[in-house]
Amino acid sequence: MENGIGFSAPAHGEGDVNTSSLRAEWQRQHLDGGTMDLINRDSSVFMHQSVSTPCLSAVRRVEGIYIEDHGGRKYMDFHGNNVHHIGYQHPRLIRAIKSQLDELSFAPRRFTCEPAVLFAEELTSLTPGDLNKVLLAPSGNDAIEMALAYARAATGRHKTISFWDSYHGAGFGARSVGGEAMFRSGPIGPLLPGAQHVPPFGDYRNAWGVREGSGVLCANTIRYVLEKEQDVAAVIAEPTRAVPYIPPPGFWQAVRQACDEFGAMLIFDEIPTGLGKTGRFFSCQWEGVEPDILVLGKSLGGGVLPVAAMVANEKLDLLRDYAYGHYTHEKNPVLCRAALETLRIIQDEGLVENAEKVGAIALERLLKMQQRFEAIGDVRGRGCLFGVELVSDRDLRTPDPQLAENILYHCLAHGLSFKTTMGNVLTFTPPLITTGEEMNRAMDIVENAFNACCAGS
Ligand SMILES: Cc1ncc(COP(=O)(O)O)c(C=O)c1O
Repeated sequence: MENGIGFSAPAHGEGDVNTSSLRAEWQRQHLDGGTMDLINRDSSVFMHQSVSTPCLSAVRRVEGIYIEDHGGRKYMDFHGNNVHHIGYQHPRLIRAIKSQLDELSFAPRRFTCEPAVLFAEELTSLTPGDLNKVLLAPSGNDAIEMALAYARAATGRHKTISFWDSYHGAGFGARSVGGEAMFRSGPIGPLLPGAQHVPPFGDYRNAWGVREGSGVLCANTIRYVLEKEQDVAAVIAEPTRAVPYIPPPGFWQAVRQACDEFGAMLIFDEIPTGLGKTGRFFSCQWEGVEPDILVLGKSLGGGVLPVAAMVANEKLDLLRDYAYGHYTHEKNPVLCRAALETLRIIQDEGLVENAEKVGAIALERLLKMQQRFEAIGDVRGRGCLFGVELVSDRDLRTPDPQLAENILYHCLAHGLSFKTTMGNVLTFTPPLITTGEEMNRAMDIVENAFNACCAGS
């Protein structure tokens, strides 16, 4: 779509785009005058941008797995930007933050504080192997930028390899390694030189057009580029792709080996998948592969505050005369206390185990739905990250973004919020506190939406 500054907008990778006519219709049917008034004021005062402003609705309360909009409608939030692992407004977290505000509310640079040290100690007691040195940042993007800067400095190289279709943040470094058109092409001009991309693994849909073996092809391509270039600083990727796609067995081992052979670092972006989302504390623990740098964010702040971190192999703590992060709120005691309490809550409440358990319930339900509905081409996921790929032709695997949008708005109308990725993949990222009963209720809503929106076979 051509806009006023002569930029041709890329096809939207997300179904819940803010310009869709279905969204306008949904708003007309479901939102009251007060909510629409707030959305319109928001739209007048905030810059418009894709998948953000103008907004879908307005939120008034969040609690547990629920968001409540301005008109009092409640939705199970199976999106939550992946911040709400412990549920919204967790009473223990809110108490800890309030008490920290009374005790110590800021630590100026050059002063450490107890919450920062306790948090870093707790975090490194959980990260695998030699990942024992921490740098903190106020957003996932900033932590990615630090990791990229660190990989450049440590290797003396600047090139990277990452996946097309990935997202790593909105700063120039993160955009450059990201692979989504909406953040890369268009009006903002050149990105970082040396940021190379390879097609990602994913047997259901991939650049090679194969129906199995994409993992081997992808790992071989990464190795090929590493070998040809000889001077790549880092491979950076999400170990479990957000679409979602689970890595095939042996995939990350092969990439790890190639990185070691050609002197490149391996950076895992676990900003959405870390802290138990996939049923392991870190999703790379499913593969048994340790990166050189692990990047965390989102849920680390307990769904209340922005906290992100890069955790590096302790052997890399060599480059001490340069500033990689230098963020004003690096060791903010309130942020650090929130993160510390969040880590403790996840452990004390057994949320990682719960994520695996309730995720299995959802997958079983969705696989049964796949037997009834031709439109469900693929069901995949792990723990509280799972997705359903919709197609208009099962044999040809033709994406059906219109059906995805219809299902999305039907579910929203019946109290379940989630998002679509790549246009046609219903992507569910429920909180780790979701119970089996709630998961079944959510899947009932999804099943009813399929009953309403497409014919059974
Ligand atoms: C995989 C991944 N990396 C990085 C980021 C950026 O995090 P933030 O929005 O905190 O900057 C995101 C956010 O959606 C993400 O999903």
